[in-house]
Amino acid sequence: MSNIVVLGAQWGDEGKGKVIDLLAKDFDYIVRYQGGNNAGHTVVIGDETFVLHLIPSGILHKKKICIIGNGVVIDPKALIDEIGKLESKSIDVKGRLFISENAHIIFPYHKVFDELKENQKDESKIGTTKKGIGPCYADKVSRSGLRVADLMNDKIFKQKLKENVEEKNKILKILYGFDGFRFEELYEKYGSFRPKIKEFVCNTTLILNKALKKKKSVLFEGAQGTMLDVDYGTYPFVTSSSASAGGACTGTGVGPTRINKVIGVVKAYTTRVGEGPFPTEFTRDMMDKIRTKGCEFGATTGRPRRCGWFDSVIVKYSVMVNGISEIVITKLDVLDELEKINICVGYKYNGKLYEHFSPDREMIENCQPVYEQMDGWQEKTVHIKSFWKLPKNAKSYLKRIQKIIGTKIVLISVGSERKQTIVVE
Ligand code: GDP
Ligand code: IMO
Ligand code: MG
Repeated sequence: MSNIVVLGAQWGDEGKGKVIDLLAKDFDYIVRYQGGNNAGHTVVIGDETFVLHLIPSGILHKKKICIIGNGVVIDPKALIDEIGKLESKSIDVKGRLFISENAHIIFPYHKVFDELKENQKDESKIGTTKKGIGPCYADKVSRSGLRVADLMNDKIFKQKLKENVEEKNKILKILYGFDGFRFEELYEKYGSFRPKIKEFVCNTTLILNKALKKKKSVLFEGAQGTMLDVDYGTYPFVTSSSASAGGACTGTGVGPTRINKVIGVVKAYTTRVGEGPFPTEFTRDMMDKIRTKGCEFGATTGRPRRCGWFDSVIVKYSVMVNGISEIVITKLDVLDELEKINICVGYKYNGKLYEHFSPDREMIENCQPVYEQMDGWQEKTVHIKSFWKLPKNAKSYLKRIQKIIGTKIVLISVGSERKQTIVVE
């Protein structure tokens, strides 16, 4: 059995939750390696809809072991709430959920920094989820953050938290006139989380590597998407972690030689939430139509998602930087009613054609997408179970995407339920 990474190849919300849930049954371990509760991964099982933010989507398979790796940032309150929500639906996580002692912890001051910076509303606004993700990763990199292991050790926790609160309060006051936090309050609040998460905390790197030695299989669950990756995305309009395939190694302690394959999840069109360049973004009427048909509202913040045509430039780039060898196309059904469908095959800027993604911000913000137009199929696809039964024009659309991307499509999703999936033979 091989070990694979499944990640988003666009700007997030590609349908990773559904795909992970489908694949998880064939794996022993499912691991989140980056991000935090900025993610919202939806899994629909019959009449029940689950939205997972921190816990891997594999948790819905009762016997699977799920790991939150060291590359993830954890808001303990959000984690405890998520565990409670699962337990209220009779999904027991005890004994099969493990949390890395090296994962960093989100504190209320991270959220306040995130919010205050965002509320300044100048050109630097990113449109974050305001969950404190960026400031928490910033503390990690500046070596002042607190890790889960620190929370488990009262002496270290007290000292490090005190230092942090003192420093953050000064900055908050000077920069934003914000009154700050009381150390005792935070110390008590986070201390009360300790007994609730203690049983899950361990050396997950060791667990994973021991499992790999025993030939157990691991599914790495990406959050966000490649275009939101802090290195490869549309910086600065990105998240603060490595959402690309490399993050699976640094975020878990599993070496690259152990990973056999990377699968990219790709929506049949494009969406993004928050600010930042989006060359193929629809104009008003199409935006309303696709947003409504595709229920394009954030699974974490409820914000309306921006929608646009399929952009092969960014997907080709994702294939390259992640080493993607297989693609899953989701939400094909959302395009069912369209008469004409566009595929972006390049960007035009200053009289020049760009067929490859470039990090040049000036270009990506001001370019004109170059489209190939295809005929729509104008038939329902939600009930279709085999590639050959898809309408002719839907097959042509998928084949064209496959050709441009140069990567084979192995699964097609035509609805949010497990059974609304076509395996491409
Ligand atoms: P993730 O963050 O990548 O896991 O994606 P989200 O859960 O944030 O957003 C994907 C949304 O699309 C969810 O509401 C899914 O239930 C839904 N979805 C997934 N696949 C399909 C599909 O093939 N067709 C339709 N119509 N909805 C889908
Ligand atoms: P999943 O895993 C879509 C976006 C935010 C914002 C930017 C930075 O469900 O695909 P952050 O709060 O991370 O500092 O925000 O990243 N963003 C997402 N967009 N899906 C997500 O997760 C996202 N997580 C963060 O909207 O533009
Ligand atoms: Mg999502």
